Parts: sequence; C-alpha cells; structure tokens
Amino acid sequence: MPASREIRLAARPTGEPTLTDFELVATQVPDTVADGQVLVRNTWMSVDPYMRGRMDDVPSYIPPFELGAPLEGSAVGEVVASGSADVPVGATVTHFAGWREYAVLDAAAVTVVDTSLAPASAFLGPLGTTGLTAYAALTRTAPVKEGDVVFVSAAAGAVGSVAGQVARALGASRVIGSAGGPAKTKKLLDTFGYDAAIDYRQGGLPEQLAEAAPDGIDVYVDHVGGDHLQAAIGAIRPQGRIALVGAISTYNATTPAPGPDNLFQAAKQEATLRGMLVSSHFDLFPEWIGKAAGMFADGTLRTEETVVDGIERAPEAFLGVLRGANTGKMLVRLDGQAT
Ligand SMILES: NC(=O)c1ccc[n+]([C@@H]2O[C@H](COP(=O)([O-])OP(=O)(O)OC[C@H]3O[C@@H](n4cnc5c(N)ncnc54)[C@H](OP(=O)(O)O)[C@@H]3O)[C@@H](O)[C@H]2O)c1
Repeated sequence: MPASREIRLAARPTGEPTLTDFELVATQVPDTVADGQVLVRNTWMSVDPYMRGRMDDVPSYIPPFELGAPLEGSAVGEVVASGSADVPVGATVTHFAGWREYAVLDAAAVTVVDTSLAPASAFLGPLGTTGLTAYAALTRTAPVKEGDVVFVSAAAGAVGSVAGQVARALGASRVIGSAGGPAKTKKLLDTFGYDAAIDYRQGGLPEQLAEAAPDGIDVYVDHVGGDHLQAAIGAIRPQGRIALVGAISTYNATTPAPGPDNLFQAAKQEATLRGMLVSSHFDLFPEWIGKAAGMFADGTLRTEETVVDGIERAPEAFLGVLRGANTGKMLVRLDGQAT
C-alpha cells in the first residue's frame, strides 16, 4: 500500500494562524480501488485565503473544517489506479481532496484536464477557479463596459493578477491595481498589464487612488475590504459597480472589523455593491477556459506562481498567502518531479 501524508487541523486558530495549528500525519492508501473510484497521486495543491474562514467553528457558505480531520482544497494529480473507464490511469485530474499526497475519490468527483492547453498547475490558477473568479466578477458581478476605469485590490495575487488583464480584454480604458510593497507594484506595471499601481503600505490610499484615477472609477474588484473598500466607494462614479469578492484584511480579525463609513456615497452615485461566490458561476467554466487557454498560449495572459515544495511546508505556504508572501498563485508542489 502506498504511504501517504496529509495535513490535519490540530487547533482552531485565534487571530493569525500559527504552524502549531496544523499537524502532518502519515497515512496509507489502498493500491486498488472499487468500481467507480480512482486513486490520485496529487502533484500540486492550491493554497487559498478563504480557508482561514473554514478554520473557525462558525456557520458559513461552506462547513467548517473538523479538528483532527485532513484539510481539503483544490488539487491536481495523476490517476494511478482506476475503477472507471471515463478516468483512465495516467489522466491528469483536478478535484477537491488536496492537503494530502494521495486521495481515493469517486470518479464523478474529479475532472480530467487537458494538459496540452497548459501545464497541470495552471488548472489551479488562471485556468481554474482562480481565473474564473476574476472572469465572473468582471462579466457578471461588476460587469466592465467599454472605456471603464477599473480598480483591483490584492492585484499582484492569484485572482488580482488575472483580473487586471481580464478587465483590459473586456474594454477597460484604464486599470489600476493596489498591492503591498515596491516589488509587487513594479510587477503590476511590468508584468500584469496595470496602467497604475498603488502601494497601499505607503498609506494615503484615497489620495493615491485619486491620483491614479482623477475622474474616479467605474468598477472595483474588492479582495481586501476595510480601507480599500472605503477608498473605492469614495472614488466611485455614477452607476459604478463593486464586486465584493473577498475581504482578506478582516480574515484574522478577533473583533468585528469596522465597515466603510461612507456608504451613502454609494447611494448618491447609484452604485451597486454585489457579493459573489465563484461556485455560483461554474457554468461559465467552458467559456472562460476557451478564452483563457488562448490568451495563455499566445502570452496575452501573463501569470506567475509562487511555489513551495513538499506537503510538510503547506502550512507555511498558507500562513504566507495571508501575509502576502506570494506573487500570483500560491501553490504547493507535492511531487518534486512535477512541472
Ligand atoms: N468569492 C469567491 O468566490 C472568491 C474566490 C477566490 C478568492 N476569493 C477572495 O479573493 C481574494 C484574493 O484571493 P487569492 O486566492 O487571489 O489570494 P492572493 O491575492 O493570491 O493572496 C492574498 C493577498 O492578499 C494580500 N493581503 C493580505 N493582507 C492584506 C491586507 N491587510 N490589505 C491588503 N492586502 C492584503 C496579500 O498581498 P499584498 O502583498 O499585496 O498585501 C496576499 O498576497 C481573497 O480575499 C479571497 O478570499 C474569493
């Protein structure tokens, strides 16, 4: 039986998680599977900020993680044993049983991906739910119109680095991103196609946004909440649209985070603030994959990965994504041979 390892939640974090909230556990997996099941050797796993919410024992749109149980999340891997003609041995698949080296899954719970379109890891990033989040936010939740000025926060991160380029492709006339620190703001301009970059760690976010968008913004993709949402509402133009995608500045908060105090500005501008969950937009996947694969192949969609090697370092990668250690998609490579 192959030996496997998995990461379990050892304790519910208070505030910022620590490495002691996680434990690495050795397990064994069967080398044969029942009819209708597959055994997958995971090669890459996704590390996502929303997982912080599942570590708290509170009701949400997805159940909390159980203490002592393996964590879960998006992963990609190779099928090494199969009881399904639809998912043969050797196929590359995505699924939701990450945070472990091997996973036994129902064949219906995996999706075979075409690695001739892009490397396997891209199906956790631009060609996965990460890219789809950006696309759905900018086509459905806060649709971009020709000539719009678009602002994106956490713009050097996984969703944000794609969002700026999607906004441009949808006809935005000016795309502004915010990120933490000079290396990331340079990356926004040099690599991810932003016209202007704000380093929010320098302070003066409303003033920096006013300088970058003197006539205001039409669309804001909010990944941060708090000060960023407040600044965006302050800059929103009439009939502006704000997609509430994430609020990472609040995820480790131990007391309720203050909300924006300028909401009436949104009323005066007849702006729309609308939340979104990518899981409600999976019907857009074929459309997005079609567009993204073309952009990825011809180099018009530029993406980056921050890769941490080894399942034993997955908790470190998770702490890192909350602190901004990543540029582009934060990934853990589970197989040193994977490319
Ligand atoms: N609604 C949905 O379905 C959905 C789907 C995917 C993601 N999301 C949300 O979208 C956001 C981005 O997700 P992602 O996977 O692409 O992560 P990411 O942007 O790759 O990583 C998170 C980034 O947040 C930034 N950050 C951390 N604390 C911050 C703070 N206090 N103020 C400003 N920025 C801060 C860091 O970048 P800096 O170094 O620039 O600070 C960090 O790199 C998250 O809020 C996530 O929960 C929502």
